[in-house]
Amino acid sequence: MSNAEACELKFYPFKMERWQSAWENKVDYNLSESGVHPLTLQELLNGESFRPGDQSLGYIQTNGTEGLRQAIASLYEGAKPSNVLVTNGSSEANLVSTLFFLENGGQIVMMLPNYMQIWGLGKTFQSSVRPVWLRKREGRWGFDLKQLKKTVTRRTILIAVCNPNNPTGSVLSEEEMDEIVGVARRAGSWILSDEVYSGAELGFKATPSFWGRYDRVLITNGLSKAYGLPGLRIGWVASSEKTIDQLWSYHDYTSIGPAALSDRLATLALQPDNRRRLLTRAKEILRRNLGILKAWAQGFGGKLSFIPPQAGAIALIKYSLPLRSDQLARRLLTEKSTLIVPGSHFNMGKYMRIGYGGPKDYLEAGLTRISEFVNGLSEAP
Ligand SMILES: Cc1ncc(COP(=O)(O)O)c(C=O)c1O
Repeated sequence: MSNAEACELKFYPFKMERWQSAWENKVDYNLSESGVHPLTLQELLNGESFRPGDQSLGYIQTNGTEGLRQAIASLYEGAKPSNVLVTNGSSEANLVSTLFFLENGGQIVMMLPNYMQIWGLGKTFQSSVRPVWLRKREGRWGFDLKQLKKTVTRRTILIAVCNPNNPTGSVLSEEEMDEIVGVARRAGSWILSDEVYSGAELGFKATPSFWGRYDRVLITNGLSKAYGLPGLRIGWVASSEKTIDQLWSYHDYTSIGPAALSDRLATLALQPDNRRRLLTRAKEILRRNLGILKAWAQGFGGKLSFIPPQAGAIALIKYSLPLRSDQLARRLLTEKSTLIVPGSHFNMGKYMRIGYGGPKDYLEAGLTRISEFVNGLSEAP
């Protein structure tokens, strides 16, 4: 192979992010958002004295300040700041984690549907990426453990899961987690668990983490979803010290370090009282809005149906209408200035993902636009 050929790299499109980046700030109603409605700085501070004028705008400790890594480590039993790398969003956390596996070669097995970042990175770097699906069973989205056992081999370097899941909002049961760990252990594979929707549960039980269940585990997470702070661009990876050290060396290439002001505000957000307040806010918004979404979907005489999410601000809605999901999304955009995510972005058929974490009036008005479109379709000759 010549050098020119060896350097050829074609990025696999990240369809959902491209779609959102292009339109989310141009439409009347953006229902493609997957997080809880963001806070203002004032809401985050909640009366706390904070003098941004004091803040040096220099580089800070590039893996995150000791204070922030300590606050993050306290979320994982027995973890120390050296078990944490602070990144720019959980997207960078997923990126540096995936680079770790791409550098080492081998097959990636990935839960689908999913946030397709790891999928696209694997394809871009010509790694073998194989799906294992969540399937609708007994009123929930369950992980296909039979398919997992068949798919994972000694060649599998990584099993990538998203828990709670994007886009279904499902949460793995303890039994499913144990099985995944068992399969990984037998094959010697790693587990990468993207837990960015944890904390945004609709019920009272926190989503269990893969942390502490197995030594070859990487947890990615961040403040963008449950905490309502995507603009801070703060995420993290938690893993063994040795792995974190290795990932830190990739972070030298990807962004060097987090922004000083974001690191400071993230440290504040993760102080126990603030963290509790932000997660309570998220649950209140989600519980109220899920009721609105359910009532709305029921008004279509069975044309729309979904398994209610257990966590997260998104619902994956199945529709029976005579158009593909990319056509549906495009027509909602152009005819109703309303953005949703089509099922095709998750390699699925007639589904749409609706973000329901926004303000009540905004959500209702966006849903009304979708109703107008769906009702218009039914009335068309
Ligand atoms: C599962 C999942 N992981 C990671 C991200 C990236 O989020 P951020 O970089 O804002 O933390 C997203 C965003 O939608 C997501 O859904």
